[in-house]
Amino acid sequence: MALVCVSDYEKKAAEILPKSPWDYYRSGSGDQITLKLNESAFNRLRIRPRVLIDVSRRDTRCNVLGFDLDCPVAIAPTAMQKMAHAEGELATAKAAGTINTIYTMSTLSTSSIEEVGEAAPDTNKFYQLYIYKDRELTKNLVRRAEKAGFKALVLTVDAPVFGPRRCDIRNKFELPQHLRLANFTDEKLIVQSAGGSGINEYVASQFDPTLNWNDVEWLVRFTKLPVILKGIITHEDARLALQTGCKGIIVSNHGARQLDTVPATIEALPEIVKAIGSQMTVMVDGGIRTGTDIFKALALGAKAVFVGRPVLYGLAVDGQNGVESVLKILQNELDSAMALAGVNKITEINDKFIAHESTFCLSKL
Ligand code: FNR
Ligand code: LAC
Repeated sequence: MALVCVSDYEKKAAEILPKSPWDYYRSGSGDQITLKLNESAFNRLRIRPRVLIDVSRRDTRCNVLGFDLDCPVAIAPTAMQKMAHAEGELATAKAAGTINTIYTMSTLSTSSIEEVGEAAPDTNKFYQLYIYKDRELTKNLVRRAEKAGFKALVLTVDAPVFGPRRCDIRNKFELPQHLRLANFTDEKLIVQSAGGSGINEYVASQFDPTLNWNDVEWLVRFTKLPVILKGIITHEDARLALQTGCKGIIVSNHGARQLDTVPATIEALPEIVKAIGSQMTVMVDGGIRTGTDIFKALALGAKAVFVGRPVLYGLAVDGQNGVESVLKILQNELDSAMALAGVNKITEINDKFIAHESTFCLSKL
């Protein structure tokens, strides 16, 4: 069967991957209320198309944070990609280069910073950072990313601990024996279960739960790279981000893997754009699966979207080609939405094209 949309790749990946990696990739935390919400919230938004507009000059190219991209769809950091495909992060980074978008590498990757830098020298690479209790180790990660040609740091701010992903607990999740967290040499920095989810136990032992806004200012001063904050979900924190010197934020709930029952990111986006959108680049991730989802996020003020699981699905199905196919599907679906909405350029997409379903509520008749 031809795979023609992200959900086709999801179904195929589910068939291919062993249970524990698949459960890890697909899971949300708790009752997975927000996991469902991240996608279903898009269905409560309607696109209001305009007709009789010449759409022969459509172009999905854009500039995000100073980077010229072919499409405002970037790759979110997802950990331990060699569980999906033997080439893991190397395949994903190369695919991002082919498609000319941003690749964000996870701290918890199964390929090293240097391997990715070497494999994809021309890709727009961002490095997603977790701040460890060991501050020297953290500084070393930053310097290595700078040296390897990464162009920005994405500081994840919503993970002092990891959320309760029940499948990982039941599976006693751990990294398969033949794989390692490739950015670390110390054998203790591996993911093994001591009875529960090995990744949650790892994070509890290694990540700095004291992280606060002073650490953001420390990082901005410490690194030569622009800093983006990932995991902001309220306008209050978005306003605080303005004062830290960071260059942008990704409105995110970590793919609904942290605190369950937080808003869907597309629900939270408008209040954050209203609070800081004119002063800082606001991007969003979570539940983006189709071109119309992308169109809606852009219409509500995001400058770009990041996708996590769709990339993993493509990687699992067909490595670098699979990631490229998924990203091309999303770009083509966005192009189609633009044509049918009467839009030629990304910058023309705005909130006039969007309405909440309640606007059309038939019960008002
Ligand atoms: C993630 N995410 C994540 N975020 C981060 O900052 N560092 C990380 O290492 C990871 N790892 C990770 C693994 C897996 C399997 C998933 C599903 C997610 C969160 C990720 O960057 C992003 O916020 C969400 O995945 C976006 O939602 P979608 O596109 O997966 O719905
Ligand atoms: C996760 C981490 C790695 O969500 O961010 O699994």
